[in-house]
Amino acid sequence: MSRLVAVSNRLPLGDNPSGGLVVALADALRSSGGLWVGFSGEQAEEPADRLVFHDGAPFERASFDLTPTDYEAYYLGYSNSVLWPVCHGRPDLMHIHPEELEGYRRVNARIADLLVPHLRPDDRIWVQDYHLFPLAAELRSRGVTARIGHFLHIPFPGPSDMATLPNPDEMFDWLSHYDLLGFQAERDLSNFVESARQLARIEPLAEGGYCLNGQETRAGVFPIGIDTAAFIEEARHAQVEDRMRSLTGSEIMIGVDRLDYSKGIPHRFRAFQLLLENNPDLHECISFLQIAPPTREEVEAYRDIREETEHLAGRINGQFATVNWTPIRFIHRPLPRKVLAGLYRQARIGLVTPLADGMNLVAKEFVAAQDVSDPGVLILSRFAGAAETMEDALIINPHDTWELAEAMACAIRMTPNERRRRHSALLQGVIENDIGWWSATYLDALN
Ligand code: ADP
Ligand code: G6P
Repeated sequence: MSRLVAVSNRLPLGDNPSGGLVVALADALRSSGGLWVGFSGEQAEEPADRLVFHDGAPFERASFDLTPTDYEAYYLGYSNSVLWPVCHGRPDLMHIHPEELEGYRRVNARIADLLVPHLRPDDRIWVQDYHLFPLAAELRSRGVTARIGHFLHIPFPGPSDMATLPNPDEMFDWLSHYDLLGFQAERDLSNFVESARQLARIEPLAEGGYCLNGQETRAGVFPIGIDTAAFIEEARHAQVEDRMRSLTGSEIMIGVDRLDYSKGIPHRFRAFQLLLENNPDLHECISFLQIAPPTREEVEAYRDIREETEHLAGRINGQFATVNWTPIRFIHRPLPRKVLAGLYRQARIGLVTPLADGMNLVAKEFVAAQDVSDPGVLILSRFAGAAETMEDALIINPHDTWELAEAMACAIRMTPNERRRRHSALLQGVIENDIGWWSATYLDALN
């Protein structure tokens, strides 16, 4: 069996990673083994010109540092101030600076230089996410002939958002050098085809193949999953239940997200406010626990969303809190996964309300963590990739505060039978399409 070489920007070297990519890829590599290459998270004025290998089974990890200039241009700049907002339907938050695009190209070229000496001809190279779109082109120009696939963890923009990029032509050129392009949802594949049709040259070939700008590639949908069996066990053995009850004395509604503007956290706070305004009988009966670790705080839009969220939580608490009850509790840090698993299990409602999201693993973790005899209810945004396969959740439009507040009320009052029926259908999907299924299906297609 040929070796799997995964390359991503983020490489988990510490504890408690938050972010779907590292959680999913760590789960996938644990079963297949292989090498995972990524950014160490460290900046250095003069980074080593070779990869640094880290010990630790069951897979090898190798990292590189970035100069402060490259970190700013490639990571904070083009990746997270251009591609991220555009892919999440927020081109209004985009900041275009030509030197940042230059830095993005430069870092991808450097990663190719660092990687090439370690590659074998029969490796399967699996490039992850939007930070590394140019990597296949860079590897090919250095003579690499191995199979190279890409998986995009975030949404692919439709033509009108795509056209706001400074370089849509170049984007399609980068993509055309991959043997396989993987997307989270049907929505993303059709956006890719439609954007390419309007902004590049694309012709369909047989069996998911395309001729993109004169190069043959294939594209497909591979919805990512979680390590469901392990997460079920984790939740079953979590010890937080009594502690949680004594802390609140009320039912819990939980949200777990990086504090990102794409996650719709203010929207769910406003809906909770409306719920409390319209349902005085629910006061002191339900508390909202929002766990939102900081992310990309050097980017202005992330500082703004933090301020907005904290302000809103403070205002709602000021409006409704009693001496016995704090309606919203806001935890702004990462937690160990087993604690998260226990909190999900304790919660009556899981709130997953992104305005745009590749998949959203929290939706799947919440379902896996439930007690099957008394499960909680998942409220899920129709704009999460997960909504395509998790139809038994309460599917909502997060922009509609009334609809969301109504779904919260409906979830609180849902009968145990109805909760069990919905949960059992959801759990079946999360078990069948788990992380092992995802990586096996993708890698089969790449082979
Ligand atoms: P994204 O990839 O955009 O962050 P996902 O929902 O797909 O969104 O993945 C988020 C992952 O990060 C999940 O596995 C979730 O459990 C984890 N995570 C989110 N918040 C925390 C937190 N406070 N502590 C630990 N892990 C977290
Ligand atoms: C999303 C992206 C990942 C990223 C993660 C955390 O899941 O798809 O590529 O790693 O967010 O963001 P960060 O910027 O901290 O790596």
